[in-house]
Amino acid sequence: MPIDLLIHSANQILTLAGDVPKRGATQDDLAILRDSAIAIRDQHIVAIGDTLDLLALADAHTHIIDARGKIVLPGFVDAHTHAVFAGDRAHEFEMRLHGASYLEIQKAGGGILSTVRATRAASLDDLIAQSRPRLDAMLAHGTTTAEVKTGYGLDTATELKLLDAIATLDATHPIDLVPTFLGAHVVPEEFKGRADDYVTLIVEEMLPAIAKSKIENQKSKIFCDVFCDEGAFTLEQTRRILTRARELGLGLRVHADEFANLGAATLAAELGAASADHLMVTRRDEMRAMAKANVTAVLLPGTTFGLGKTNFADGRAFIEENVPVALGSDLNPGTCWCESMPLIIALACRYEKLTPAQAIVAATLNAAYSLGIAEHVGSLAPGKLADLLIADVPDYRHLAYRFGTNPIETVIKRGKIVYSRHPT
Ligand code: NIG
Ligand code: FE
Repeated sequence: MPIDLLIHSANQILTLAGDVPKRGATQDDLAILRDSAIAIRDQHIVAIGDTLDLLALADAHTHIIDARGKIVLPGFVDAHTHAVFAGDRAHEFEMRLHGASYLEIQKAGGGILSTVRATRAASLDDLIAQSRPRLDAMLAHGTTTAEVKTGYGLDTATELKLLDAIATLDATHPIDLVPTFLGAHVVPEEFKGRADDYVTLIVEEMLPAIAKSKIENQKSKIFCDVFCDEGAFTLEQTRRILTRARELGLGLRVHADEFANLGAATLAAELGAASADHLMVTRRDEMRAMAKANVTAVLLPGTTFGLGKTNFADGRAFIEENVPVALGSDLNPGTCWCESMPLIIALACRYEKLTPAQAIVAATLNAAYSLGIAEHVGSLAPGKLADLLIADVPDYRHLAYRFGTNPIETVIKRGKIVYSRHPT
């Protein structure tokens, strides 16, 4: 059988073995092969195993990479981003350094609403042009699949424009994007004081429009998310939106417990959501409810760090309670402009008490599971998509141990080299 690409002699290949989420004690298991090779044909992995055996499969047209002294791992799956937006909020970052809180800035008409103004004003092309370099940076740091939320439109037309931008970027950029509708990010200015009316607009107009556009245009599953928190949406409003979304066939995610605990993690369990995200102030009984309902905990340590706060989510507690733990960057212009999953892993190990192996599982297989795509990506096995990374480190622990520089040397997406630190 002809092989297009062969990577051999890797110090470690982190296969992760499987397409079911790893939870509890198994979240520590990277299923490592030593001094091994991986063979790729077309878009898929065809074999993983002994270097000499696989080298025997190579022929004149095989591109061969010697990964001696390096590691090979699945491409990162970023389970939570707001990567498509216009403008920036550098001035708000400085206001926060001078003591203003995120909520105070939001109440004064800044925060998410300021990005909404910029995003409404931007043309579709401009929105795509502003977002593409962020995807380039994510790719260079090893992200090969990412979830991307809308939520900076907050009217039907602009929310659809954001979905359009996500679909166009998905089609024209190597990273595969999974869209999430986040019309319930905050209450827009024109509905100030009438939050329930805005929820009615979401339920009666936006969600049906999104579900219809999904049937016409989207290749992948689409999710619906709600920011359930102080200054955003109440638990009852969240329930109304997610229940309707579920009826329309959308998957569910929820921004839960980022600032205040309104009960959103329990609601996620009750509704069978795919994920609850942030979880900085979640109780143990709520973790147990999530475990029972198979809700993935998507932890976002970059956000806590980005806000200059110290109340990081307790990742170890979620693992103890048998909840599958995933990681995301939360890339957004307000709380966390970070395109680097290696940095997210480094933060998760230091502040959320994950081991390096648990954090790598969280940033690959478990993130893929939360997006419903673990059958295709998130681990390395024959038949899966050839989405994988070569990192210039001798052992997987270095991915968490070092920080601030990029350990990723080569990124392979669907069998093609799409980033290399050493361009040829
Ligand atoms: O995940 N919490 C809500 N959404 C983002 C912040 C978005 C923004 O500030 O623009 C978050 O932190
Ligand atoms: Fe977020």
